[in-house]
Amino acid sequence: MVTAEMSVVFNTPCTVKALFRSAVSELLKVGIESPHHDVEILLAEAIGTTVSNLHFNSLLEVSKEAKEDFKKFLCRRKRREPVPQIIGKWEFYGYEILVNKLVLTPRPSTESLVESVLAVARQIAGCRGQDLVIHDIGTGSGAIAVALGKELPGARVYGFDVSLAAVDIASENVSLHNLDKSVDISLADLQPPRSLEPDLVVANLPYIASDDLSSLAPEVRDYEPSIALDGGADGLDLIRRLILEIRIVEEGVLFLELGNNQFEMLKSFVLREIPFLRVEAKKDFDGINRVMIISGWRNNHV
Ligand SMILES: C[S@@+](CC[C@H](N)C(=O)[O-])C[C@H]1O[C@@H](n2cnc3c(N)ncnc32)[C@H](O)[C@@H]1O
Repeated sequence: MVTAEMSVVFNTPCTVKALFRSAVSELLKVGIESPHHDVEILLAEAIGTTVSNLHFNSLLEVSKEAKEDFKKFLCRRKRREPVPQIIGKWEFYGYEILVNKLVLTPRPSTESLVESVLAVARQIAGCRGQDLVIHDIGTGSGAIAVALGKELPGARVYGFDVSLAAVDIASENVSLHNLDKSVDISLADLQPPRSLEPDLVVANLPYIASDDLSSLAPEVRDYEPSIALDGGADGLDLIRRLILEIRIVEEGVLFLELGNNQFEMLKSFVLREIPFLRVEAKKDFDGINRVMIISGWRNNHV
């Protein structure tokens, strides 16, 4: 539902600028935190243009069809549905990734994870990552697998997820980026038992503590799948399992994304369970220890 004020705007000829302003005030009324940004994206999508073109064309009249589409988008956003799910796609590491309500929308913080993998991959196998085998565990939309496939054309990337819906959309994203020959997506609980042992393993598994799920923003709590969020009592259940069960070559490297304040807790676990491993941190853009890099794996490591 839109307010009476907004209905007038929708029912009379109006410019991009007028529609933009009214929609921002509509979203502000329901407490949306980033109304300008959201309206820009939704309006550009409805009109079929880019955000920068939207501003260049602010005095043009919006067509009836575009207004109809935008009205639907705005109603969905007012119900706190996240923008990426409304438009069905999001950008990750410069690549367009299709998303839906069955997978997590890739976050900017996960770009730090990709950066960490790329730095090591290029160091050991050159800029194309020639012949490297990489596993992306909990691939979700396939965002990490796609970014690695594009950036490391010589590598072979395998994305695994326990959710069939994730496998479907990740496979779609792989095809969208013409990566069918080098990136493979399949169903697995962590890693499949008989797959080729990888040189590098990257995992952005669920890491939110179960008790914290109810206090997440409505966009996340009500619209993103709990299988992508719920990491058990302290958020680290699946990550600990992966560390204990991992299949990786000798001297391979594992890259994990973590939540706030989880690094030290997980580091203690790793060094207690497998003392010969080396553990490093990489901070994200906000200065948080977002990525754990674990190296020094040996055969029969546990
Ligand atoms: C936090 S999301 C990350 C998605 C994607 N990698 C990204 O960075 O945007 C975690 C993903 O792990 C998957 N997952 C949960 N349990 C799993 C398991 N036991 N084995 C494999 N994947 C699992 C979920 O289905 C979800 O897609």
